[in-house]
Amino acid sequence: MKAYVKTFGCQMNEHDSERMRGMLLKAGYTLAFDEKEADFILINTCSIRQKAEQKAFSYLGRLGICKEKRPGLRIGVCGCIAQREGRRIVRRAPHVDLIFGTKNVHRLPRLIEKMWKAQNRVIEIYDDDSARWQQFGCEIDRDKQVSAWVTIMQGCDNYCTYCVVPYVRGGEWSRPPEEIITEISDLAGRGYKEITLLGHNVNSYGRGLSQDFDFPRLIRSVDKIAGIERIRFTTSHPKDFSEELVEAIADCPKVCEHIHLPFQSGSDKILRSMNRKYTVAEYLHKVKMLRAKIPEAVVTSDVIVGFPGEDDDDFQQTLQVVESVQFEGLFTFLYSVRPQAAAGNFPQQIPNNIKQKRFETLLEIQNRITSERNMALLGTQQEVLVEEAVEKGEEESGREVLLRGRTRLNKVVAFTGSADYIGKLRRVEINKANRFDLEGAIIP
Ligand code: 5AD
Ligand code: SF4
Repeated sequence: MKAYVKTFGCQMNEHDSERMRGMLLKAGYTLAFDEKEADFILINTCSIRQKAEQKAFSYLGRLGICKEKRPGLRIGVCGCIAQREGRRIVRRAPHVDLIFGTKNVHRLPRLIEKMWKAQNRVIEIYDDDSARWQQFGCEIDRDKQVSAWVTIMQGCDNYCTYCVVPYVRGGEWSRPPEEIITEISDLAGRGYKEITLLGHNVNSYGRGLSQDFDFPRLIRSVDKIAGIERIRFTTSHPKDFSEELVEAIADCPKVCEHIHLPFQSGSDKILRSMNRKYTVAEYLHKVKMLRAKIPEAVVTSDVIVGFPGEDDDDFQQTLQVVESVQFEGLFTFLYSVRPQAAAGNFPQQIPNNIKQKRFETLLEIQNRITSERNMALLGTQQEVLVEEAVEKGEEESGREVLLRGRTRLNKVVAFTGSADYIGKLRRVEINKANRFDLEGAIIP
């Protein structure tokens, strides 16, 4: 039997899919290269914006056509849409055989067994968060061989008024530190060099644990694990970005100086309405604190344009934050109404044409800043962790190939070198700056 897992959405979903692929392998499936050769296709869906949902449903629709030609094919839907919509998915996609939620991931092996035996489709959605820990400790089929994701917490208690996450992922829950350390030590033993600590709100890690163990303490512990060369983490909330955390980042040589710190809007009025729990001045102060302690640190961010009530003045204030912080990169989003999230019912929803215009203005400014920041790296030497050969299948030992890696500041760099460098740190001189990546030459 062959299975194929299709993933939509963020790194959390990508990593859940790695876990589900691990479970499928353990259950005796092999993994198909594409949909055409699969007996079972599992779609891991994302619900963060309407567009993400549309993508998943149109993919699901295409699979309906495949199933007409191949009635033996079985189709499963999981992830954030499944958690929220449950049985309602069947109305739009009657060809679905299995639906399960974000808190039932550990039940996958038993659910597919049931699906093959059942005459009817199988649906299981847990609302209760308490079983979530059971998905950890399962086999993981990791996408990459050099860097690995490690979940440290899941869920969110913040209830930003635009966001669906607390409804589809549940409340904040932290994994015990010993489990995290064991998983990372094991990864180091298997040759992994870079770890990204994952969670919806990593820097509030530790709430609800039986012991007193916060995020700064966790990164100090991970920093001591031999064999790991780099530590990253995502996503952080500005309200939990503390001085203790900045000190820990500065003290831990393996923690990379790149922080993803979503600011969402440059207007206090909008931040209040978003329930973000910080002001623009507080956000700017935190960036200043980071740069004062770690001058080479770079910041990337998320921003939403067209939130209900955003007027031209609010938008100008967003642009001012973008100009004053000089983000290394920015993920820009058009506000999208989400069922359950409070802002969908706010008055003064912004018309699409205005949202789009603001989006384009913002993008133009950030593209210029990103290009300038990349140009500033020309002629510098950067430590690069070599991740892979650009052309797959070219990794033969000793062969000179086009390689791809990342700097500590998370910039992608392409350069020529021996395939044996994969998984190693090399110094690279940057000789070309593109908008989204860099090119360079290895320093012998
Ligand atoms: N509309 C637009 N963007 C959103 N995000 C979250 N919810 C929405 C929404 N309803 C963005 C935020 C968040 C990122 C992951 O997605 O910027 O940080
Ligand atoms: Fe969503 Fe806000 Fe929680 Fe982030 S902090 S997951 S934006 S509710």
